[in-house]
Amino acid sequence: MTRLYEDDAELYDIAFDWDISDEADWLVERLQATIVLEPGCGGGRMLEALADRGCQVVGIDRSPRMVELSRRRLGTRGEVFEADMAHFDLARTFDGAVCPINTLLHLSPAELGRHLHRMAQHLEPRTRYLVQVGLVEAGEVPSAGSHWEASRGDTSLRVEWVDEELDLVSGTSRQRSRIEVLSGPRAGEIVEEVHEMTAWTPAAWAAAIAASPFEESATYDGGRKGQWPRVDTTATGGLLWHELHHASPA
Ligand SMILES: C[S@@+](CC[C@H](N)C(=O)[O-])C[C@H]1O[C@@H](n2cnc3c(N)ncnc32)[C@H](O)[C@@H]1O
Repeated sequence: MTRLYEDDAELYDIAFDWDISDEADWLVERLQATIVLEPGCGGGRMLEALADRGCQVVGIDRSPRMVELSRRRLGTRGEVFEADMAHFDLARTFDGAVCPINTLLHLSPAELGRHLHRMAQHLEPRTRYLVQVGLVEAGEVPSAGSHWEASRGDTSLRVEWVDEELDLVSGTSRQRSRIEVLSGPRAGEIVEEVHEMTAWTPAAWAAAIAASPFEESATYDGGRKGQWPRVDTTATGGLLWHELHHASPA
């Protein structure tokens, strides 16, 4: 597990705590759900946004630090459990689920298969699971990456997230993150880390979904601010939203 999800989970939580209100509005409309599960919920920013819009929310995360941050953020407005998203059993069902910001790229193809079966067990038939997973095609050059600043209270950060390597033969990618603490109690610290992720082409992703209990009913481009235009399932991009329908009882 990466340091940013454990010892430095608080820095991660500040770095990624940008305004997601438009996206949460859009997700709530797409999901049409009353009780929503978020696997890999991190510090709970999406759970909180969904709870603010009237959903009951439940999150799971493998990192005890992230679970603690989510619980602190939600208070009594939702439940969060420590669990692995490829091996969990909450003994209840949901009528919607969401997994933003490429969290599923942390899973190997075999783990994704197990995860989708676990999700099918936890979702009512004909409900939706919206997952944000970037897809790449052979020959595409890794993007230059993202650079931004973020702050909370006294702490301000400069964040860099760069794609370093893409290997579609092995289906892996390497990303590097660098967080520089500009002010606050940890001013002057620099936290750098390499993230080994799974890389999916549109064809490999389509095959993984075809082998799962879900069908992809629509794909949307989540990379255009305030707009989520529908795109072809063969589209590539870093922030694609895939609308998965749980087609049959698991
Ligand atoms: C990219 S962060 C996203 C957090 C949150 N969804 C958000 O939008 O801010 C990925 C999260 O997934 C969690 N995670 C990674 N692999 C996991 C697994 N196998 N089971 C459960 N959680 C996992 C990490 O601990 C981390 O909190």
